[in-house]
Order: sequence, then structure tokens, then C-alpha cells
Amino acid sequence: MRTLRFIGVVTSRIALIVGGVFLASCRGAPGSSSVPSASAASAEAETVIRLAHGLDPTHPVHQAMEVMGRKLDSLSGGQMALKIYPSEQLGTERQALELLQIGSLDMTKVSSAVMESFSLSYKVLGLPYIFRGEEHRFNVLEGEIGKRILLSSRDVWLRGIVYYDAGSRSFYTKNTPIREPSDLEGLKIRTQSSPVAIRMVRQLGGSPTPIAFGELYTALQQGVVAGAENNPPSFHTTRHYELCQYYSLDRHTAVPDVLVASTHLWDRLSEKERGWLMKAARMSAEVQKTLWDKATKKAMREVKKAGVEIIRPDTEKFAEAVEPLYETYREEAPVVYELLQEIRSVGTDSAATDDSAATDTAGVADMRSERQAESNGGKRP
Ligand code: GCU
Repeated sequence: MRTLRFIGVVTSRIALIVGGVFLASCRGAPGSSSVPSASAASAEAETVIRLAHGLDPTHPVHQAMEVMGRKLDSLSGGQMALKIYPSEQLGTERQALELLQIGSLDMTKVSSAVMESFSLSYKVLGLPYIFRGEEHRFNVLEGEIGKRILLSSRDVWLRGIVYYDAGSRSFYTKNTPIREPSDLEGLKIRTQSSPVAIRMVRQLGGSPTPIAFGELYTALQQGVVAGAENNPPSFHTTRHYELCQYYSLDRHTAVPDVLVASTHLWDRLSEKERGWLMKAARMSAEVQKTLWDKATKKAMREVKKAGVEIIRPDTEKFAEAVEPLYETYREEAPVVYELLQEIRSVGTDSAATDDSAATDTAGVADMRSERQAESNGGKRP
């Protein structure tokens, strides 16, 4: 553990040099989106929070972060502003996290899969077929377990703020339709930088190949990998569907996205500012659920229109094939194994969420009406 920390610090130092220079040169770069606009508000704001992530600006998670920027502006009366750098402008998800660790960047949005290398607890969220549906997933993430995982990386300078829903991930391939787990045999499949995802693809017989999200289009194009896996909005907004003709909805994982703040930022915010930030973030996460549903439907429509064959395999067969994975964590990572048991015992009724997590600074009713207002094009109902 100590050695790991040390390696982390050394990596961070290197990133400080590279990152510091990089960020300085990227400030105000074209394509960054300051919310509201590139504006007077952010110029006048006392605190400008810089947030970088890897998704396209048309992605529902980016749009939810824009909502957060607008909320932050209105809650703080213009004292706080959010400046967003999408599309890996400031590096991969891992690099963004390293910039947070050294205080060169304030916030990022990453996949929880990438957090696995910074805090063991996140591994549980990358395990296949752990949720018994949407209700169960939200109960876990918005309840006490989800909150505990978010706070598990504070000692490595990363404070999880909220989760964004990222639906479920499924395989897409260029030439080989995946109808059965055995169809993955020997296929090179791109994975995230996640030990759990790597192990899962290997367990299914595929050959896992970690590649950064932004490099995947070219990797698919050049045949470096035969396929990848992701949720419908990401399959669509990355245009990977132009290269992959099969999308096999095995829904193996439901890895959420995570909004993360640098503890360097958190420590310098006042109590009041932290409250505004948390409230804006939670409201945006609530709005994101609606944006997500719409984007998922749209993505499925568009990829079908573009000629992608949608395969609906028997998910039971995939679930059976990955079954041996869970036991491997019993000895190797008891924290992950125990979290898995806890997750399994969470109910699917809507009352099971931890109210203190959901209502810390904002009432649920308040958030629901915000969610409706935003999906109404910003107008309150
Ligand atoms: C999802 C997730 C991204 C992540 C990507 C990936 O789209 O939202 O944060 O980068 O998966 O597969 O790398």
C-alpha cells in the first residue's frame, strides 16, 4: 500500500510538470464550455471551477454537467462558475485524475471503472450482473453504500461527489456477431483501464486490450481490436457504430460515471460554497436521468438507422459464464467481496435509498421539479 502511494506521488509529480504547463496553455482553449456561456458571469465569479472529461459535448452526461454549471451560477448568485473541458482536451480519464491529485485541475468526470486503480472499493461497481434492475442500482448508488464508495478515495486526493447513470454496457463488434459467450473466443476486445473489466473479458474467452477512450475509433478502424463494449449513448456519440456492424445487448455491466473533485479544491471552498456545489451536482444528477433515457432511445434509433444489427442474446448464458469471477475476490480483495454481499442484500423498493445521502443539501421534491424543469428546456412546469 505504502509503495503504491509512493508510486502515485511520483506519477503525480511528473503529471504536475506536464499538467501544469498543459493546463496553462489550455485555459480558454476553443471548445471548452464555460457555463453560462464564455461569459461575464465566469469572468466576475470569485471561484471558477475547471472540470475536464472525455465525453463529447452532445453526450447526456456533458449536458448534465452544463446544468450543474447553470445551477452553480444561480445558487451562488454568480460567485461561482464552472468551466468545462470536454473530449479529453486535458488528457485521458486517468490523466485527469492525476491532475486532480496534484491540484492542477479542480474536477473531472470519469467512469467508475477508472477509479478502481485509485480506490479498491470501486471495483465492486465494475463487476458484471450485480444489479437486479434500475431500481436496485439507484438504491445502491444513492444510498449508504454508494456514498461510502464516493468517499473512499479522499486519502488519495479524490473526493467523489455524485454518480451519473451510465446505463448498461454491451459488446459491439466489427465483423463477428456476439450471440453466445463462445463467440468472443480469441477476439481482441477493447476494455477500459480497469482490472475488473480485463478479467471479465478474459473470463468470457476474449482477449482484453485496454485502450484510452479517445483512441478507440482509430484502433477499431485500423483493426487493432475487433470490438469494444459500451452503453448506447457512448456507442453513438463516438461514432463507433460507423465501424461496428453488430451491437449485442448482453448488458454485462452497469458501470456508473462519477463526478470527482480534487480535495485541494474541496479544502479551499467555504462551507457555503461546498453546499452550493453539492446541491448543483445533485440536481444535475437528477436531471441527467431524464437526459439519459432520451439519449439512449435516440442512440438506439440512430445506430439501427445506420445499419447496425441489434442482437438480443440470452443474457443468462453470459451471467453464467462470468459466475466464477465473484469468488476470486473473496481472498484477493475482501473489501470488494464484502461490498458485493452488501449490494446483493439491498432491496429493490424505491424507499430503500439513504435519505441523508439524497437530501443532504437539497430536498428530493426540489430535485424532481428541477429535473422536470430542465427536461422542459429549462422552463419550470
Ligand atoms: C463510458 C463512460 C466514459 C468512459 C467510456 C469508456 O462512455 O461514460 O467515462 O470513458 O465509457 O469506455 O472509456
